[in-house]
Amino acid sequence: MEVVIVPQAAAGGELIAEAMAQLLRRKPDALLGVATGSTPLPIYQALTAKVRSGAVDISEARIAQLDEYVGLPADHPESYRSVLRREVLEPLGIGMDAFLGPDGTAEDIQAACEAYDRALAEAGGVDLQLLGIGTDGHIGFNEPCSSLASRTRIKTLTEQTRIDNARFFDGDIEQVPHHVITQGIGTILEARHLVLLATGEGKADAVAATVEGPVAAVCPASALQLHPHATVIVDEAAASKLK
Ligand code: F6R
Repeated sequence: MEVVIVPQAAAGGELIAEAMAQLLRRKPDALLGVATGSTPLPIYQALTAKVRSGAVDISEARIAQLDEYVGLPADHPESYRSVLRREVLEPLGIGMDAFLGPDGTAEDIQAACEAYDRALAEAGGVDLQLLGIGTDGHIGFNEPCSSLASRTRIKTLTEQTRIDNARFFDGDIEQVPHHVITQGIGTILEARHLVLLATGEGKADAVAATVEGPVAAVCPASALQLHPHATVIVDEAAASKLK
């Protein structure tokens, strides 16, 4: 695992956007796994700037979703499909035909999860997977004590994660769904390159457990230690509890 400490979030965004640009120059139809939440926004902004300046051509790239709320209509503004369309696909000029995601409204959620794992494999696997990290060490929505071998499946959000995400729902925790579909940790580990960005003091404990703690289900992100090509990029605040 490579750990890179940057002065602030924007520098991390730029570094990761450049890694994505280099991948796309090598492999124009790369499958990019993307995350939602606040952390990756500087990455998407930096990548959009590169695309608009002509520094990289993203017209053949494909985008894969990491997780999705269960039960929110796909066109709900806070469904992750809507969020990704707004924050990633539209700014980058990528159409929904190049987008892969699980169906959070399916009647048979288990079948939808299995179908998504199959779709990722049939697409050739994720080339570069962006990850954020929860204050409790979750990646995707694999909350603490998720199996490190887990596949895409339905998970119940912890109270803490629903509190953390209430800011996207007018601060009202009652509006935050209880369930999500998330790529499993085993699924995530199949991506060829994992890139985790963590910024802010609130992530410092989770980052320390991820990088310096034992590989343990109690900190799902510690599974990155098992991956042959994992990069963890942290700002100084998120790095503050590293030894
Ligand atoms: C979202 C996701 C989550 C977030 C994590 C951090 O797709 O997979 O694991 O990355 O909850 O969220 P932020 O970046 O908002 O602190």
